[in-house]
Amino acid sequence: MIPPLVRLSGGGQSLIFAFESGLARLVWWGAELSAMEAEAAVRLADRGIPQGMLDAGEALSLHPCAAQGFTGFPALEIRRDDGTFLADPRVTGVRGGADAVEWRAMDRLAGLDLSVKVTLDAATGVAAFKTRVENTGGSTLCLDWVASAALPLDEDEALMFDGRWAGEMRPVRARLTTGTWLKDNRTGRTSHHAPPFAVVGAPGFGEDEGEVLGLHLAWSGSTRLVLERLRDGRLQAQAGELFLPGEMTLAPGEAYETPTLYAARSDRGLNGLSARLHPFVRDVIMGGRLAARPRPVTFNTWEAVYFRHDLDELKALADRAAALGVERFVLDDGWFAGRHDDTTSLGDWRPDPAKYPEGLSPLIDHVRALGMEFGLWVEPEMANPASELLAAHPDWSLKVAGREQPLGRGQYVLDLTRAEVSDAIFAQIDSLLRAHPIAYLKWDMNRDLTHAASAGRPAVHAQTQAVYALIDRLRATHPGVEIESCASGGGRADYEILKRTDRIWTSDNNDPFVRQALQRAFTIFFPPGVMGAHVPAAINPITGGRSGMALRAATALFGHMGIEADPRRFSLGESERLAWMIALHKRHRRRLHSGRLIRLPHPDPGASALMATDSEGALVCFTQLAPSMTATPAPLKLSGLDEAATYLVLRIDPPSRPSAMMKRSPPLAEGAPATASGRVLVRQGLPLPVLRVGGVALYELERIGDDAAFSGEARLAPARRAP
Ligand code: DGJ
Repeated sequence: MIPPLVRLSGGGQSLIFAFESGLARLVWWGAELSAMEAEAAVRLADRGIPQGMLDAGEALSLHPCAAQGFTGFPALEIRRDDGTFLADPRVTGVRGGADAVEWRAMDRLAGLDLSVKVTLDAATGVAAFKTRVENTGGSTLCLDWVASAALPLDEDEALMFDGRWAGEMRPVRARLTTGTWLKDNRTGRTSHHAPPFAVVGAPGFGEDEGEVLGLHLAWSGSTRLVLERLRDGRLQAQAGELFLPGEMTLAPGEAYETPTLYAARSDRGLNGLSARLHPFVRDVIMGGRLAARPRPVTFNTWEAVYFRHDLDELKALADRAAALGVERFVLDDGWFAGRHDDTTSLGDWRPDPAKYPEGLSPLIDHVRALGMEFGLWVEPEMANPASELLAAHPDWSLKVAGREQPLGRGQYVLDLTRAEVSDAIFAQIDSLLRAHPIAYLKWDMNRDLTHAASAGRPAVHAQTQAVYALIDRLRATHPGVEIESCASGGGRADYEILKRTDRIWTSDNNDPFVRQALQRAFTIFFPPGVMGAHVPAAINPITGGRSGMALRAATALFGHMGIEADPRRFSLGESERLAWMIALHKRHRRRLHSGRLIRLPHPDPGASALMATDSEGALVCFTQLAPSMTATPAPLKLSGLDEAATYLVLRIDPPSRPSAMMKRSPPLAEGAPATASGRVLVRQGLPLPVLRVGGVALYELERIGDDAAFSGEARLAPARRAP
């Protein structure tokens, strides 16, 4: 029996699915509804049928299809050699509970079964949509497109993300007009330029205002996002895996399962969305595995030495890093056999005998004796033509016979879909992990997939799954080893890779003037605990821009903090400031990584403000990234506080001299403590200092009373102040 409706409830929300004429429609996603209200929502969801269209209209189901008269972007496109091209799956059975619903839809004529599963996370209200297509016919079925789901949209302002290497997550907004906005990613990795994330919301939605629906396709291969306004004004969003031509063919009885489309809704703008997504990523996607261990402050050798590895120098770097408070030392690219630049040696995962005549142990022992963990860079999916691996096995890379496979960063992609290739790479990494106390792998991936064929068949899908399988196998064998997902910076940042990795290298661009915006966009979908954020050198090697330590460190402070520079080149003042910032990060680490991160809006477009808060207090950071247009800055209105509680507020990095820009600065900006209720801090906000470009103001808030009438003595904490 097929029920007329199914109601999922969780996270203060309901999703109502209506089943009619064999089609499943999502008619409500919003505040939790009673059973009676749900029935009314279904009745009122009928928009009628306009003139000029088919007599039965065009149902916008979870999988709208051309065979059902749907003339918009279909959710399912198929082919058979006999000319079959239409699919019309109709629901034949539904199973539903409070937090999950599954239905099956069959099309005997086309010979396919569609199974759809939707789950709603009870704690956060994040929904997951997944679809399976089975070939029930007697011949090969070719799938050209299968959306994980098509979701109806109420609003028409869309936010997607452009990007490039060293410039990830650049927000682009548009109002949806009739037609489709297609975001195709054909790179075979999550990509820099078309990552599978979108937000659609009420026109003008902001950090705190507006209805928004956030979407993410959790897949590390090629992807497609579709946003469409239909000719009758209705709106839909789809997401799915992008196949190469003829890539997804199913023999009779075979099935394909889509990646999961995760979606969340908020009526409090992007911060409301993040308030759902951050705990969902931490607790569900990552299974809560990071909660038990504070994220270790990291030093990574890349921008300190690049390929120039010298044991004594690396030991000296480790000494400096440890003195600054670093807890994990990561040896980046350049450590393995013959690797002196980026043209050789990928695939030969053993220490370079000239650089490490006694292997890695002397360095690892030194690092561990300083109390730090040791981490190692690898790029297991790749091999250079100039490697012993490819010399011995020239046929081990993905390629199309007879065609020259283009190089990317001088390297080819190994065909991990072949067991012998995957086994050989596993064996090399496994033996490194067995031989040494390596706590962390920086897993890099530095080229797009093109000509991605295995045994003459397109293989991006199979390769993506083979990468997951290789990581899963290594994790199962070495459960204590953490893994970072890196792909030329943030080219592989998605929820499916995060199920098996512990952090993401957000970007190779560490310039705080770029990084502030980049991280701001990144944290819409990712919690700060997985966001690799490192303090770079004063003159940035990528942008050439110059920045002070206060801004560089404050930018890394709100992620998984680390250093990406030669700390021996920091001046004494820079080192003191950095050590203080690392200590500050450690003091607030639980709040930063398990509390709530809020991107505070501020009317000055040249400013950027963040706040991390929990029930005990908050850390607030205001930065001036471009000249302000006003003589004094507008107050910074805080958020996420208990409005009835009293807080002690202290600027912990007051200037050593009064500001030359002001006749008199607000006392709080000069470092005088203040007490105020949450209500005052939220409505009136903090009075800010006038900052130069690159300036930072940091505030600690300590909850000192549960009611707003608290009038206790403000406790001064001079030791907390910046050097
Ligand atoms: C690209 C990464 O994003 C960098 O951090 C660094 O690890 C280089 N690869 C090393 O080749």
